[in-house]
Amino acid sequence: MAERNDRFLRACRQQKVDTTPVWFMRQAGRYLSEYRAVREKAGGFLALCKTPELACQVTIQPVDILGVDAAILFSDILIPLEAMGIPISFGEGEGPKLEPVRSSVDLDKLRVPDPASETRFVLDAVGLVRRELGGRVPLIGFAGAPFTLACYAVEGGTSRTFGQVLNWMYQDPESFCRLLGLMAETVIIYLKAQIEAGAQAVQLFDTWAGVLSRHHYREFVLTATARVFSALKSLGVPMILYVNGSAQFLEEMALTGADVISVDWRVGMDEARERTRGSCALQGNMDPMALYAPAGVIKEQARRIIAHAPQSGHVFNLGHGMLPDVPRENAIALVEMVHELGRKEI
Ligand code: CP3
Repeated sequence: MAERNDRFLRACRQQKVDTTPVWFMRQAGRYLSEYRAVREKAGGFLALCKTPELACQVTIQPVDILGVDAAILFSDILIPLEAMGIPISFGEGEGPKLEPVRSSVDLDKLRVPDPASETRFVLDAVGLVRRELGGRVPLIGFAGAPFTLACYAVEGGTSRTFGQVLNWMYQDPESFCRLLGLMAETVIIYLKAQIEAGAQAVQLFDTWAGVLSRHHYREFVLTATARVFSALKSLGVPMILYVNGSAQFLEEMALTGADVISVDWRVGMDEARERTRGSCALQGNMDPMALYAPAGVIKEQARRIIAHAPQSGHVFNLGHGMLPDVPRENAIALVEMVHELGRKEI
């Protein structure tokens, strides 16, 4: 029967586990004073991402502090965009800023970077984390999904309306597909390199695909996402697809070839289960805001999610990333609650 070192991978494969595994998106971050101290030492967020020894330390912090069942590499989805030729920066207390790609002329200047030379620090961090974890829990590698990477590249940062990227999609679908194809190529070799360096599962973050209709998801995004998963399938590690705000196209997500679909809190686990018909495992889906509530409320939310999720094939997570000032004791308590509520009868 699975224990902490493999219950996450077993659940991704819909195999029996002793209890429900749990990890959190953005589990390493500002809500931990230990994280803030290492970021300070690195001299900023990007410097932290680019210093393997320090990235390794913050990757492991939540494994030790919270007791989660998986580590996720500390990095950012924007790192490969910089290597493609798009300058990026993170101001203190603001979101990322990028030099926007606005036309097919700009697009022609981008290149598919070689991970071994241009993002070596990511692969070095993967190797270090595997060594430091010593098999305690598996390590998840990740990348932004093609559409979300295109959103950041075109908008030049986070956007409220995604006007620029949607405009491109409507005005010039052909070069928009070329943009998504270039992102897919980049993600394929980037994730392959992470897996070869030691990542034991991978997650694609399609944070912003929820702005699309079902029709446009199917027409533009499904193909690019499926291309990534189909290229990685033979490497044999579980592949997770996260989309925030995805209730309108859960069926399409299940067609991408992902082994695990990560859903947000707006859709019930029972509905997600029905609509994906057991074709993949499910990850999620507590509202990140619930972590500010009293313990009794948190427990009730966890109980409901676990009751509606599959017995085999559920990885507990939040519906989006951990917020920067969440009380850490609530996150620690939630991990314990999930392990207790998720215990399976053997
Ligand atoms: O999950 C983890 O613990 C691994 C590390 C991780 C980070 N970002 C660290 C981070 C992962 C997997 C990401 C993914 C990421 N990055 C996404 C997809 C997931 C999501 O949240 O939707 C996106 C959209 C980004 C881009 C990004 N990075 C934004 C918009 C921001 C600013 C928002 C904010 O919270 O400040 C970041 C910065 C960032 N990435 C931080 C961390 C810990 C905060 C930086 C800091 O220390 O100040």
